Amino acid sequence: MTVSKQTGKEVATIARRSKRSPAEFSMKFTFGTNWKMRNLGRDEAREYVRVVAASLPRLANTRIFILPPVTLIRDMALEAAENRILIGAQNFHWAPEGEFTGEISTALLKQEGAAIVMVGHAERRSLFGESDQVINRKLKRALADGLQVVLCVGDSEPDLAAAKLQETFFRQIGIALDGVAPDASGKLIVAYEPVWAIGEAAKGAPSGEQVTSCVDLIRRALQRAFGGAADEIPVLYGGSVGPGNCRQFVAGTGVNGLFVGRSARDPHRFVLLIQEALSVMEKKTPNAPP
Ligand code: PGA
Repeated sequence: MTVSKQTGKEVATIARRSKRSPAEFSMKFTFGTNWKMRNLGRDEAREYVRVVAASLPRLANTRIFILPPVTLIRDMALEAAENRILIGAQNFHWAPEGEFTGEISTALLKQEGAAIVMVGHAERRSLFGESDQVINRKLKRALADGLQVVLCVGDSEPDLAAAKLQETFFRQIGIALDGVAPDASGKLIVAYEPVWAIGEAAKGAPSGEQVTSCVDLIRRALQRAFGGAADEIPVLYGGSVGPGNCRQFVAGTGVNGLFVGRSARDPHRFVLLIQEALSVMEKKTPNAPP
């Protein structure tokens, strides 16, 4: 791959980020936001990172990831260089490179400073036809290239029977992690996102009890794939999370953080939401990864 012209400072910053060990990021709590196809200027994007970075001293044991549109990654990654904020991509191709018009490779994303990528988001599954098999290929590519990976899984309806829920999570996770070695667990984050609770068209949000039982099934599916190593994988909740309701998703549900869309558009609001969630989680997460 031909590396584009970068300043010495940029090269050094991006190289330093890619050398960070997974252990450096094995924080107790994880919060992320997916910006989807939001049109934002570079200055606003950098300012977003600055606001979140300024709040870090108040957010102990917490790592944060932000998934902007791909053209904003470089600016944001440079802004985030010295702290616990990871910048990454919402999408990429599973091949290392080649004749895939319009696609982007993990190598190119890393060149921009991406440290994390997402696979399996409900919008990629439903609008772009991404199957569990495609998600598996993409996940393996990202891991092979040393990226952290957020794997999204979710149920399709609010009232699925227990057996159907189990089938859904065991299938999504079983196929996504097929052929992946358990020692990859330090690089993985799982986001539980009920399809029916995501975005403007959400039909509502799950109760704390619903989140608890789905997270339990997800952990069982992860253990089936990875054995004891699965315990270090953070499981987040995402879907219609807002400052008013975030307690119900984190209080005693076994989640290790939140994945937020609309309510994180304003960085100050995102930080408030994290603080609200942390005030509950610091007391009630017995199964948080170390
Ligand atoms: P939302 O989106 O918070 O706007 O519901 C969540 C997501 O799609 O990840």
